[in-house]
Amino acid sequence: MRQVCIGSIKLTDPVCLAPMAGFSSLPFRIMCKRYGSSYAPTELASARSIRFSGIDKSFRYMRIDPDKEGICAIQLFGTDPVDFREAVFAIDKDPRLTGVSIIDINMGCPVPKVVKTGSGSFLMTDPKLAASIVRACKEAIRDIGRDIPVTVKTRTGFEAGDKGVPELARAVASEGCDMLCVHGRTRPQMYSGEADIEAIAVMREAVKSFDIPFFANGDIKDGRSALSMLEQTGADGLMVGRAARGDPMVFERIRKEMAGETFTPPSDSIRKELLMEELIGRTGYLREDVAVREMRSVMPFYVKGMEGAAMLKTALCRCTSVDEVREVLELD
Ligand SMILES: Cc1cc2nc3c(=O)[nH]c(=O)nc-3n(C[C@H](O)[C@H](O)[C@H](O)COP(=O)(O)O)c2cc1C
Repeated sequence: MRQVCIGSIKLTDPVCLAPMAGFSSLPFRIMCKRYGSSYAPTELASARSIRFSGIDKSFRYMRIDPDKEGICAIQLFGTDPVDFREAVFAIDKDPRLTGVSIIDINMGCPVPKVVKTGSGSFLMTDPKLAASIVRACKEAIRDIGRDIPVTVKTRTGFEAGDKGVPELARAVASEGCDMLCVHGRTRPQMYSGEADIEAIAVMREAVKSFDIPFFANGDIKDGRSALSMLEQTGADGLMVGRAARGDPMVFERIRKEMAGETFTPPSDSIRKELLMEELIGRTGYLREDVAVREMRSVMPFYVKGMEGAAMLKTALCRCTSVDEVREVLELD
């Protein structure tokens, strides 16, 4: 078993849910944890918005539950180190967020709306700025007297031809970043093509002398792809994104298959129950119709591959209440 330390947080064989906007709801993260995800960061929240508009406006993206999640990681995006400093102070002051255990900085988002503000993957073009953001977070955390590791999630490049950005990796590591996670695609690739394993390995190599854990991410969906990613990149941990959508049990699959055990895929009725669990979990903090509406882009993933999936998806996307969803799924 491989033990990894993110700051003072000890993990064994970390395999984590990757942050995904629209998918990383609190109930879903809790389910992923139950099936073997070591921890699961929230989706990205704007440091600038937190600074100027307060936590409330962003809270929907930052909801955590330390009792059920254990390790709670909040992901922030932005470009101004002062925004990050103020965001850390605001998070620390908010009683709903005192249980935060990791601050993760998004340096990989390829969405033009984010990139043009100088945030997300744009930071790969400015390692000095990226480093000063890590420094701002570390200093703010020291100033509030807390022990919260700061992690960075990035990609293998800003331009199509990039084969890793080792100068970015070194810049954030030398400011004390406590873990680096690299998704093996460049910004223009978004999510297309295959993850570039060699470019991930370049990033891994760049931080080797810093003695911080390195996580690899991209196209991991089962034990085989997980083992191959670990072997080929020398990573200490893994993050799993799209394969987990509508399938929190993918973590059980990965862990079992990595251990050479057989994984029996869940039956359709179990998958439907998992869908209901996430939906009902969301109604714990959202109005029922809002929860159902927000689940419209998520529910199709739960029924993917089932008999009559196309009709199920259409029917699910028309639902406005929990009872309607239950009826469509033919559950009692
Ligand atoms: C719908 C969607 C939303 C995403 N949102 C975020 C996000 O908020 N923060 C982030 O760092 N990455 C985000 N990502 C990227 C994933 O965390 C991950 O790096 C990417 O999907 C590659 O991993 P995979 O091949 O396992 O899916 C998102 C990806 C998808 C598909």
